Amino acid sequence: MARVALVTGGSRGIGAAISQALKDAGYSVAATYAGNDEAAAKFTGETGIKTYKWNVADYDESKAGIAQVEADLGPVDVVVANAGITRDAPFHKMTPEQWHQVVDTNLNGVFNTVHPVWPGMRERKFGRIIVISSINGQKGQFAQVNYAATKAGDLGIVKSLAQEGARAGITANAICPGYIGTDMVMAVPEKVRESIISQIPAGRLGEPEEIARCVVFLASEDSGFINGSTISANGGQFFV
Ligand SMILES: NC(=O)c1ccc[n+]([C@@H]2O[C@H](COP(=O)([O-])OP(=O)(O)OC[C@H]3O[C@@H](n4cnc5c(N)ncnc54)[C@H](OP(=O)(O)O)[C@@H]3O)[C@@H](O)[C@H]2O)c1
Repeated sequence: MARVALVTGGSRGIGAAISQALKDAGYSVAATYAGNDEAAAKFTGETGIKTYKWNVADYDESKAGIAQVEADLGPVDVVVANAGITRDAPFHKMTPEQWHQVVDTNLNGVFNTVHPVWPGMRERKFGRIIVISSINGQKGQFAQVNYAATKAGDLGIVKSLAQEGARAGITANAICPGYIGTDMVMAVPEKVRESIISQIPAGRLGEPEEIARCVVFLASEDSGFINGSTISANGGQFFV
């Protein structure tokens, strides 16, 4: 039977490319989203991938949503914690609300997504946890104290889960995309975007599919010895 993959924020941007690539690789895929019903319906219409709406920042909603996915598709074997937001502001102007929104979605959202599937993965002795972090979690970024903190936190999560899950056949890895041409990046003013591109040795933004291919590799049986690692996919912009 096909393995089941859950992709949070899987209806748009990088997540949509991940959902599609996993489907193409033979997985039964569930893609989640927060509130953009129109984009989710369009995505399902175009791909045939089922979408589920819940807020990853809410533990009870996540648990109930995942239970529904498992009732529909079977136990979740692969989790891609991809849902994420930005609320940028220089630190002296950052509001507590901007801090908490980003922490609740990007960091607590990873806990809320992985925690409900962890016991089942341990029992079945197989699991793949893939967290979509960011180049800015590795290097920090002006006006992103909140975002960078959560994305650096992702790396701590996978390094710790890797140690806890290894004997149960579970791996946990992170991908740190550089700047990818999605709504999140296209929302920044054109001048800022041009300046970002000028700092990328590849001379271009990344494509969502380039991140999706990393996910398909990490999700596979073949990647079982890769655990607790961080894959940088950033066009040569930053080396750890
Ligand atoms: N784009 C980049 O250059 C870049 C670079 C490095 C890392 N990343 C990371 O990659 C991931 C995807 O980014 P993206 O650019 O593809 O984002 P995007 O185009 O803005 O799409 C975000 C997706 O996440 C969902 N989402 C947002 N908040 C959510 C919540 N509270 N609960 C459930 N779903 C939620 C959205 O649902 P709705 O459609 O309902 O809003 C949407 O499906 C993020 O974690 C981001 O930090 C992106």
